[in-house]
Amino acid sequence: MKNKRVLVTGGLGFIGSHTVVALQKEGFEVVIIDNLSNSSLDVLAGITQITGKTPEFENLDLREKPAVQNFFEKYPDIEGVIHFAASKAVGESVINPLLYYENNISSLVYLLQELVKKDSCKFIFSSSCTVYGQADELPITENAPVKKAESPYGNTKQIGEEIIQDTCKVNNHLKAISLRYFNPIGAHPSAEIGELPIGTPQNLVPFITQTAIGKRDELSVFGDDYPTSDGTAIRDYIHVMDLAEAHVIALKRLFTESDRANYNVYNLGTGNGNTVLEVIKTFEKVSGTDLPYKIVGRRAGDITAAYADTNKANNELNWKASRSLDESLESAWKWQNVVIAKEKEEN
Ligand code: WQD
Repeated sequence: MKNKRVLVTGGLGFIGSHTVVALQKEGFEVVIIDNLSNSSLDVLAGITQITGKTPEFENLDLREKPAVQNFFEKYPDIEGVIHFAASKAVGESVINPLLYYENNISSLVYLLQELVKKDSCKFIFSSSCTVYGQADELPITENAPVKKAESPYGNTKQIGEEIIQDTCKVNNHLKAISLRYFNPIGAHPSAEIGELPIGTPQNLVPFITQTAIGKRDELSVFGDDYPTSDGTAIRDYIHVMDLAEAHVIALKRLFTESDRANYNVYNLGTGNGNTVLEVIKTFEKVSGTDLPYKIVGRRAGDITAAYADTNKANNELNWKASRSLDESLESAWKWQNVVIAKEKEEN
């Protein structure tokens, strides 16, 4: 894959930045598009610190169709695209659905309109297990029915997959894969990059690490009356580096395998489910801290349990998540300590 040029949209974001590191390690030439709405230019320095190579960077908004067209005129040799750029806060999407439909759908359409003009292109789409809602059967396979989304955010992922599938049907030269993430957590072991939630974290693990570091008073556990071993909800927490490596493998598969349909879908999880209380206990163990928390009511829209059946990705991509929950939480805690030290330096 030496020197193949790949576009990573949202490449300064949490999963995007870790994927850029993995791509550069595989010899890809990476160009990042990011509008910095939910990320920071410091991430570019973090990537460079890890790989010794600064990706090319274009600060542009994919909602601007002319800007997207100009980008592909400036970079005619892009052979692959990994598309992360999207708004992703479930709660915000309920309050401001049009922001989500414009940002997540229009940008995808404008990208695909440019890609189908090329002789060939590989496309990886950042999707989510949220498309399954509460699956009827666990673990969840890719054949599980896609249910009516619980939020506009989840709906944009469902619609996005359908847009790509319909486009691939009439463009054989476009090869695409949708990757349905379970719950990405953790950070690069170097702690040079990691999750940087802006404002109050919506997700469990950054809220845990900010509570442990003293930035939050206590964690609210959203409900302990679920039909699970300890009453708290179950999720499949996957290390962001396992997720990043899966993107590189999926992209390489699109470059090398021509014997398959030009559209496919894979679940990316560990195949293990953990309750919220199990995550808290594991975090306390690996961090050596006591986490203050209280049980409160359920959060609207939350499901009881989701964890992946990983056989399809294991067998067809020859990929399997290798990092444990302990390792994921350790890396998140190490990253949180670096972030707080930097904040203290700056203040
Ligand atoms: C995990 C568990 C909460 C915060 C969402 C999106 C998904 C993906 C990942 C983007 C749940 C509980 C959480 C807190 C808590 N996002 N929790 N207290 O909701 O499974 O998935 O984020 O791609 O698409 O749907 O992740 O981390 O918010 O919650 O008790 O302060 O932790 O109820 O059981 P979720 P999460």
